Amino acid sequence: MNWLRSILLPVQGTDYSTRVDNLFLFILLVSTFFFLLVVGLIFYFIVRYRRRGPGEATPHLTHNLKLEIVWTLVPLLLVMVIFAWGFRGYMDMSVAPAGALEIQVTAKQWVWQFEYPNGTRTINEIHVPLGKPVKLVMSSEDVIHSFYVPSFRIKADVLPNRYTALWFTPTREGVHLLECAEYCGGGHSLMEGKIHVDTEAKYQDWLENGDQSTKAIPLKDLGAQLYTSRGCVACHSLDGKRGQGPSFKGIWGQTHAMASGSSILVDENYVRRSMLQPQAEIRQGYQGIMPTFQGLLRDREIQALIEFIKSQQ
Ligand code: CUA
Repeated sequence: MNWLRSILLPVQGTDYSTRVDNLFLFILLVSTFFFLLVVGLIFYFIVRYRRRGPGEATPHLTHNLKLEIVWTLVPLLLVMVIFAWGFRGYMDMSVAPAGALEIQVTAKQWVWQFEYPNGTRTINEIHVPLGKPVKLVMSSEDVIHSFYVPSFRIKADVLPNRYTALWFTPTREGVHLLECAEYCGGGHSLMEGKIHVDTEAKYQDWLENGDQSTKAIPLKDLGAQLYTSRGCVACHSLDGKRGQGPSFKGIWGQTHAMASGSSILVDENYVRRSMLQPQAEIRQGYQGIMPTFQGLLRDREIQALIEFIKSQQ
């Protein structure tokens, strides 16, 4: 069955994936079997009971008790098996083991914000240790989003004004994709993130020292990476097209009219403040919907984004 799984399904990043896949493949095979049975019988009956000559009439039929009992009980049994199997998995997925690493997740149009117990905050990206259970406590600041990690086989709605939880124990080192799976507005398809599964040592290093891999990258290139990975792309285009926020194209050095009536030069200080205190000045004609990136971007990352915006002429 593994060949079928590898064709149809993403890699398995947790033990739980195997359980989801087994149930999925069971349902798929049962459905395929009955599909072939029903369609096969249709064709068989078409030929077997075709009209053979003029005046030939079908004999009067009422019912067949035995047949009807069989075709009621067999599907009933099958769906009860599927229900019990699925329910057990669902319960196991819903209740995290004690002592799991707890990460707070906040969804907002159109970024994922994370907070670790030690205060580390990130956007669209988390690191978790291999083989340790991780619990996510999730809430939304606006509309309904859905936290979906295909390779972990976990998914749950993220709702405003209440908490939902998910947990997983990653078993495969590497990067796993996180997607928003509930249409949540214009930037929905860009609301994605990465889950880095690291060895314990690498994870601890990241938690203490942050991401070292970006140190050697020129500011402008780092800015280009952050533009996508931190979710700027969801609202700010590079081609001049108007989004939820102003496009970055050609704005550097311009003077923008603000909703407050003042006008401001787009320079380093203005761009920095727009990231950290986005509500301080709203550009005329736009809504103040941008979340603050205070505590979520390091100074070097802010510089990188500024250099990137500068380069968009
Ligand atoms: Cu958030 Cu779709």
